[in-house]
Amino acid sequence: MKRRIGILTAGGDCPGLNACIRGVARASYSLFDTEIVGIQDGYSGLIEGNYREMKQSDFSGILTLGGTILGTRRTPFSMMRVIEDDQVDKVKAMKQNYKKMKLDCLVCLGGNGTHKTANLLSEEGLNIIGLPKTIDNDIWGTDVTFGFHSAVDIATDVIDRVHTTAASHGRVMVIEIMGNKAGWLTLYSGVAGGADIILLPEIPYDLDVVCDALRDRAEHGKTFSIIAVAEGAMSVEEAGMKKKERAAYRAEIGFSGIANYLAKAIQEKMPEIEARAVIPGHMQRGGSPSAYDRMLSTNFGVHAAQLIAGEQYGQAVGMTNNVVTHNPLSTVAGKTKFVPRDGHEIRAARAMGISLGDKNKKD
Ligand code: F6P
Repeated sequence: MKRRIGILTAGGDCPGLNACIRGVARASYSLFDTEIVGIQDGYSGLIEGNYREMKQSDFSGILTLGGTILGTRRTPFSMMRVIEDDQVDKVKAMKQNYKKMKLDCLVCLGGNGTHKTANLLSEEGLNIIGLPKTIDNDIWGTDVTFGFHSAVDIATDVIDRVHTTAASHGRVMVIEIMGNKAGWLTLYSGVAGGADIILLPEIPYDLDVVCDALRDRAEHGKTFSIIAVAEGAMSVEEAGMKKKERAAYRAEIGFSGIANYLAKAIQEKMPEIEARAVIPGHMQRGGSPSAYDRMLSTNFGVHAAQLIAGEQYGQAVGMTNNVVTHNPLSTVAGKTKFVPRDGHEIRAARAMGISLGDKNKKD
């Protein structure tokens, strides 16, 4: 049995992409007669026909390497069927290049957007397998995505380091953690780093509640406080606005990121304290994957190779109850896995006395 496999990485990168590519490749080489084509820069490479034949040696020495050897780019799903100025029919071009490369299947490593396009290509008749990567951990159908735990480690280290300087200066430190729609990374690193207040996109915050929590700490003799806030967190008022309205409101107030905004707003409401914003940004996506992510990425990659061996296409690999498994792409694409407001992690955070910025103190 011979299989010619295309591999691409799309969307934002994360630690573990190379480990996963290596997992797919090594397991494929050992399971069947394999040829691998590396597609450059995600779906844009598939559209433009930018690809190269890979050798087995290309997959050596990349287990611990951050980023992706294939490059990646964001090619929005919403634009896939839109003909732009270049007049390129993107879906047609992807199908043509798949044929031109003589692929038996295409393995797409990516997040929510990547899975939507993967599903579109599957519906168009191509043999597709999706692999769940993102530091946001927000892909439906899997308990965990690769890249997430590495980012939790990095963000926790940031919070740990900020803790000591916060204590020395007696300041309120507002740390902005990545995650626009889902707050998994903020919640995990916030709890792991001992944050006092954790603000998530899933739970709109009330600034007065945040300030009350800070006052409460001060009254109990705590000289500093740590706020872990997700990039996509918003106030109760903003949550009540339509997307465009919110964007207009933020433009009007000169919003330059949630941590900057909150540090200033808190200081205005509580002139007696000094607040600072910390934004680790893309550091959270950089560097070598953690041991956990190397293991997870490898296992996911091996599972993809096993699906290819069994010609089981149109599937998204994932983890359920600690077992690596797969779900039809059509059931995963287009859904986001949010932090459940009544989930055990949220209940544990509340039980620890962490403020989530809302009025509901107990669950
Ligand atoms: O999806 C991963 C992620 O890091 C999000 O947490 C963040 O909102 C976004 O990507 C940042 O994207 P970019 O790398 O395009 O700035």
